[in-house]
Amino acid sequence: MGSWSGTVVLLVTISAAVLSTPLINQLQPGQEWPQLVKQPSHESVEVISEKSTGEVEGELVIVKPQVDKTEPEDEGNEDEVTPEIDFKTKSLIEGKEDTQKVDYTGAQLWKVSTQKDGWRIVLSRLRRRNLISTWGTNGTTIDILVQPHAIQNVTNALKRENIPFDVIIEDLQTRINQENPPLDENEIELQDRRGHRMNWKQYHRLEDIHGFLDYLAKTYPAIISVKSIGKSHEGRDIKLLRISNGNPTNKAVFIDGGIHAREWISPATVTYFINQFAENFDVEHDDIKNIDWYFIPVLNPDGYEHTHVRDRLWRKNRRPGSGLRGCAGVDLNRNFGYRWGGKGTSNYPCSEIYRGPRAFSEPESKAVQEFFQNTAAKFSAYLTYHSYGQYILYPWGYDNAVPPDHNDLNDVGNNMAQAIKSVGNDNYMVGSSSNLLYPAAGGSDDWAKSLGIKYAYTIELNDQGTYGFILPTQYIEPVAKESLASLRVLAAAVHKI
Ligand SMILES: *[C@@H]1O[C@H](CO)[C@@H](O)[C@H](O)[C@H]1NC(C)=O
Ligand SMILES: *[C@@H]1O[C@H](CO)[C@@H](O)[C@H](O)[C@H]1NC(C)=O
Ligand SMILES: [Zn+2]
Repeated sequence: MGSWSGTVVLLVTISAAVLSTPLINQLQPGQEWPQLVKQPSHESVEVISEKSTGEVEGELVIVKPQVDKTEPEDEGNEDEVTPEIDFKTKSLIEGKEDTQKVDYTGAQLWKVSTQKDGWRIVLSRLRRRNLISTWGTNGTTIDILVQPHAIQNVTNALKRENIPFDVIIEDLQTRINQENPPLDENEIELQDRRGHRMNWKQYHRLEDIHGFLDYLAKTYPAIISVKSIGKSHEGRDIKLLRISNGNPTNKAVFIDGGIHAREWISPATVTYFINQFAENFDVEHDDIKNIDWYFIPVLNPDGYEHTHVRDRLWRKNRRPGSGLRGCAGVDLNRNFGYRWGGKGTSNYPCSEIYRGPRAFSEPESKAVQEFFQNTAAKFSAYLTYHSYGQYILYPWGYDNAVPPDHNDLNDVGNNMAQAIKSVGNDNYMVGSSSNLLYPAAGGSDDWAKSLGIKYAYTIELNDQGTYGFILPTQYIEPVAKESLASLRVLAAAVHKI
């Protein structure tokens, strides 16, 4: 492909003993690996540098071999596997962004089997040539976005190797166009009478979400308050809503949504929780009433707005790019300050998993850090909502290890998954992030756990790759409703600590 031709690609493979079973060590927050215990070092490490242009400083790509049933994507290492953006497309996008929406006409989503190691290598090659980008994976299949101009070549490559695949979405732009239809007249009229514009029949702009939070604080001042805990790069408020009955012995639960811009179901679900508790507080279960709830429905407001007006598939925040290439954005879920810079992160600003120049370099993650530094609340749980894949994941994410109380995390996670199953009949898998998916350092859940917050989870909401990030609006209510059932299970567990 163009951007790679005429470049020198240097591959250094460090192979180490391949372990047949995942190595699980129990590490306390902050505890180092014992001197005599080898870290799980069964990755191959590829260092790729693009010498001729000097644009790519060298990206560390972790390739984890098959561990158990889980087969992570090569450099994906994400709560959902992430694509590298074609450098040229990328700078075109950046240059034209004031006038144009990114168009995904002709792009397709395919589900490809990764049951053999060799197949994943074929996919890695296609990804490096920028013919595909990767979305989600479940261990036996991976979802790939195929660029329109690459469909023939990718088809040939997969057929040549006998790799099974299905076309899941024929034309991504059509799906994007259908995803979030405008409301009808009746609904608009209803909104005007209600005092806010929020509902769960639509994905909303930030203004509607923030307007809803302010409306609740104004309507229920005895139990609800809203404040801005900081401003994004582009100056948008990072709004935090607190619900509390004021009982001084309450434990606290923190919930963030919208760290990743394109995962629209996340803010929709978190605002659904808020609405349920706020509008029904008097009749809510005591488990709910006797917790101080803290919600940030949109932790990445710039990115969220960007997905509405420019690029539906934008993931990171909107840190401005610098230098010639000027790739924008940091992956906020690689920017939190526990084991920052470790596996499954990139130091390359154009990467979708760019961790930023240092821990908490971003105003959005920094705001959360400062909030926790200054609060007197006693947090017992931290939930961060993402999509997609249907997972309930607990630490550690940075490496293949679990905290000492992993049995508690696993038990409560399983009970949460059961609640989801009984309400909405959706299957959620439960496990530690690094073990079930792949290592990714710098996530908000690891950082929360490192602060001593017992129940720290990343929830990957629906679906399992039928629509992926482009989940139609009719799924909002069922997904949020079953998730609420799991939140009730968590609340009960918090009271039992
Ligand atoms: C992954 O998804 C595929 C296709 O939907 C399914 O057949 C397979 O059983 C799934 N694998 C796991 C481990 O859930
Ligand atoms: C597709 O394959 C052909 C033949 O191998 C090659 O010449 C062409 O450059 C490829 N196209 C892309 C977009 O990679
Ligand atoms: Zn995410």
